[in-house]
Amino acid sequence: MSFSAPELIAAKRDGGALNPAAITWLLEAYARREVADEQMSAMLMAIFFRGLAPDELRAWTAAMIDSGERLDLSGLSRPTVDKHSTGGVGDKISLILVPLVAACGAAVPQLSGRGLGHTGGTLDKLESIPGWRANLTNEEILDQLETIGAVVCAAGEGLAPIDKRLYALRDVTGTVESIPLISSSIMSKKIAEGTASLVLDVKVGRGAFIKDEAQSLLLAATMVDIGRGQGVNTVAQLSNMNAPLGRCVGNALEVRETLDVLGGAGPDDVRELTLALARIMVELAGLDVDPAEKLDDGSALATYRDMIRAQGGDPDAQLAVATHRETVTSPREGVVTSIDALKVGVTAWRLGAGRARKEDPVSAAAGVEVLVREGDRVEAGQPLFELHADDVAHLDSARPVIETAFTLGDDAVTRSPLLLARVDQGLTD
Ligand code: URA
Repeated sequence: MSFSAPELIAAKRDGGALNPAAITWLLEAYARREVADEQMSAMLMAIFFRGLAPDELRAWTAAMIDSGERLDLSGLSRPTVDKHSTGGVGDKISLILVPLVAACGAAVPQLSGRGLGHTGGTLDKLESIPGWRANLTNEEILDQLETIGAVVCAAGEGLAPIDKRLYALRDVTGTVESIPLISSSIMSKKIAEGTASLVLDVKVGRGAFIKDEAQSLLLAATMVDIGRGQGVNTVAQLSNMNAPLGRCVGNALEVRETLDVLGGAGPDDVRELTLALARIMVELAGLDVDPAEKLDDGSALATYRDMIRAQGGDPDAQLAVATHRETVTSPREGVVTSIDALKVGVTAWRLGAGRARKEDPVSAAAGVEVLVREGDRVEAGQPLFELHADDVAHLDSARPVIETAFTLGDDAVTRSPLLLARVDQGLTD
């Protein structure tokens, strides 16, 4: 059936509902380049203001998935389960979680994108390991999932390819921050990856994509709904992203912290969130295993090493070290009342750890070590942050941001909880 793009745009603009066949037609015609970018831009803006009802969103996401291939993981002997994070500062959880859940007996197919802006990408972090390669063929992915159970690699061009074009349009038309558009973008790629179950780590707070808890809950329930509708057993966990996760922000620095946690040490918050997500994943995969045991007995570390080696990396190789370091100290005695994840993320980005455009290179060594946590009492002159950079000019550009990334007070403060709500119910349940 054929529809008219201007009529569909006008219907959405005026608050009408589009029928699923019209949505399928629109996205297929856009993929064939019969609907123009300017028409799709207008539709995205209409959706930004009017939203998509659950049945519209289901059709929209299904059409995005159908724009490419869907991996078939049904031949694996292990249950499949993956995790997606909406993006945080210092978020190295996948590096620990993927091998940990594989060590519990699942297959974790984490097909990932690269970082853009103030949140780092998992692939960029792993690429700081000498020799490690992000691009695998589908056969290599399946083989590694069967033998090791853990894969983190680049999502191939074939998974929901229309998302790249839609995202590029959203980026230049002020339509990124729309719950239906974010949900369909994330979920189309995750569903196309073929996982049977999925946990979503939805970040809330200063360093998150969405700062407001009510909006994050809505995003979580919307994504759970889409996943369930597509037969993927999906649960979301809201987690606090006001302050950076752990102590390290930056590619090689975060790999070092990953090894600390896999070795049984590392920051408490990284361990707490990793185990919380791992428990949900193990539950969704139907396994009766305690992830904490697999972390503490060295199984997760062994699986991590196998996973890195299988993709050409040397888990024992020296990681890059920055040529320039600078310590930021406390101007006075007091209590650290806040550390702003967004500002720490921007600092790491200015130091060279992140990219402004998707084709930019990233520095493996650059980043920030956060030496104190909210609630810590500090002396005047006590080191608060250590900045790492390969270029001294990057230190000059980062310094003004990090100097405003913390607040000091006089009274004790209680740290806000890391784990917020668990969302099992979709929007329409
Ligand atoms: N991540 C995505 O993949 N898509 C969005 O729209 C936002 C975050």
